[in-house]
Amino acid sequence: MLGDLVKLRPMGPSDAEALWRWNHDPDVMWWMDDGYAQPLAQVEKWMAERPRNTYGDVLFGIEVLADAKLIGLVALHDAEPETGCATLDIYLGEKEYWGRGYATDAMRTICRYGFEDMRLHKITLTVVTENQAAHRVYQRVGFVDEGRLRQVFRRDGKWYDQFTMGLLEGELR
Ligand SMILES: CC(C)(COP(=O)(O)OP(=O)(O)OC[C@H]1O[C@@H](n2cnc3c(N)ncnc32)[C@H](O)[C@@H]1OP(=O)(O)O)[C@@H](O)C(=O)NCCC(=O)NCCS
Repeated sequence: MLGDLVKLRPMGPSDAEALWRWNHDPDVMWWMDDGYAQPLAQVEKWMAERPRNTYGDVLFGIEVLADAKLIGLVALHDAEPETGCATLDIYLGEKEYWGRGYATDAMRTICRYGFEDMRLHKITLTVVTENQAAHRVYQRVGFVDEGRLRQVFRRDGKWYDQFTMGLLEGELR
């Protein structure tokens, strides 16, 4: 799938090393739930055994069009035709590519796919209220704050709030 700056493409076992590296980078993972960062062999196994994308579990790598470099990933989880709703996750693991509009373009591309191809009615996400760069990107493409979840994210022993955000069909900018 093509945006203006990035291409979204399926991920495979050869992407395991990049994914493992990103998940062990504290700058990248600072505002994200990393759970337990797995060893490389585990990530390779997961990538090899992961089924192809399904309606309820969509995962794409974000590749820069100009140099074909894989810089991050974007996912739509838990889509259901009955509710027309799905949850979005995005991050760029290659830090030198931050601040150049790639996440904004990837967001527009995956949301277009969600609304046009998957026929979704609504896409939701959560973001830690302090994560201003991510919040800004989401607002710019049309997501609006729908609520504030108090103290649901812990980092270094401190609790943070999250915004829950939503984008309806027709609101993508
Ligand atoms: C958040 C993230 C997805 C943004 O990606 P990106 O490609 O750098 O985003 P863009 O370049 O499209 O836009 C970034 C915007 O945030 C702004 N920004 C960057 N750092 C900022 C900061 N510390 N405070 C406020 N705004 C900031 C930029 O100025 C830009 O807005 P502008 O174009 O209006 O000036 C990326 O930095 C990332 O993956 N970070 C680590 C993981 C993460 O936080 N993921 C999201 C979890 S919900």
